[in-house]
Amino acid sequence: MRTTASKRITNPVYAVTGASGHLGRLAVQELLARGVPSSDIVAIVRTPGTVTDLAQRGVDVRAADYTRPDTLRAALVGVNRLLLVSSSAAGQRLAQHTNVIAAAKTASVSRIVYTGILNADHTSNPLAGEHQDTERALREAGLPFIALRNGWYIENYADRLAQYVEAGEIVGAAGHGRISAASRHDYAAAAAAALLQNSEGVRIYELGGSAFDLFELAETITKVTSAIVSYRNLSVDEYKSALQRSGLDENAAEFVAALDASIARGDLETKSQDLEQLLGRPATSLADVISEARNHHG
Ligand SMILES: NC(=O)c1ccc[n+]([C@@H]2O[C@H](COP(=O)([O-])OP(=O)(O)OC[C@H]3O[C@@H](n4cnc5c(N)ncnc54)[C@H](OP(=O)(O)O)[C@@H]3O)[C@@H](O)[C@H]2O)c1
Repeated sequence: MRTTASKRITNPVYAVTGASGHLGRLAVQELLARGVPSSDIVAIVRTPGTVTDLAQRGVDVRAADYTRPDTLRAALVGVNRLLLVSSSAAGQRLAQHTNVIAAAKTASVSRIVYTGILNADHTSNPLAGEHQDTERALREAGLPFIALRNGWYIENYADRLAQYVEAGEIVGAAGHGRISAASRHDYAAAAAAALLQNSEGVRIYELGGSAFDLFELAETITKVTSAIVSYRNLSVDEYKSALQRSGLDENAAEFVAALDASIARGDLETKSQDLEQLLGRPATSLADVISEARNHHG
């Protein structure tokens, strides 16, 4: 009798770094919502106690630190596809990300999905350097990867809603620079979609929602909250001084003002439809995210 060797088809194992943070946690939740069994998801965090909710849902929680290669190698054992959520430690990110990429290679991870920055090819955003260098490190590592070049989070503004309403104004130096921002939730859903798709080689997605400038942000807040909020545009130097008067030290004020100057130059605008395509639906609108923030914070 002839027997056919049966080949067991196993599901990929997905890991998400920064799973204790806003974006990483949402990405794990998205994978679960899309039907990935919790036993096929690894949540990588520095402090397992911060994600007991995920552990209770059956997610495999593993401790690792971007600064400790041995912990990363151990955490990535058996992982096939990795979402590397960029670190929040600006200035140390390239070294940290390089550690993760090297550990992923050692652990035979077959694909890395990395959350970078919009327009990484040509942006002059002061935060871009480490993201550009990380993409270079990914290329040099020779692993298949997907760069999710994320635009600004709408939450960068929505989290300040109460402050804007109280002051009756938004102050900045972004001029009429347009911002193709999207909600963290949408970026997380896009990251889950990128992890789940079967692609090979290198893919780049420029991700952003419908563009607005800060005048339109103020108009939207006025419409949603019924409180009159306007946008006051300052020069970069004036804005830096205003930030210092509000308590920021000189370096921080210069940095925040430089971010607005970058917006004014168009660094955070994209016409790309990649986000909508990955989501399979339109991105959540600015008004909806503002409205949700209002309902949350009263
Ligand atoms: N596009 C935008 O507008 C925008 C805005 C802000 C940030 N970002 C970038 O997007 C990333 C994700 O955003 P987010 O809102 O989720 O940020 P977040 O809530 O601050 O999360 C950052 C995550 O990075 C983890 N992390 C930091 N240092 C680490 C280390 N040495 N080893 C292991 N994990 C480490 C943190 O772990 P712990 O919980 O242990 O601290 C946390 O889980 C940020 O880290 C930043 O690079 C983008």
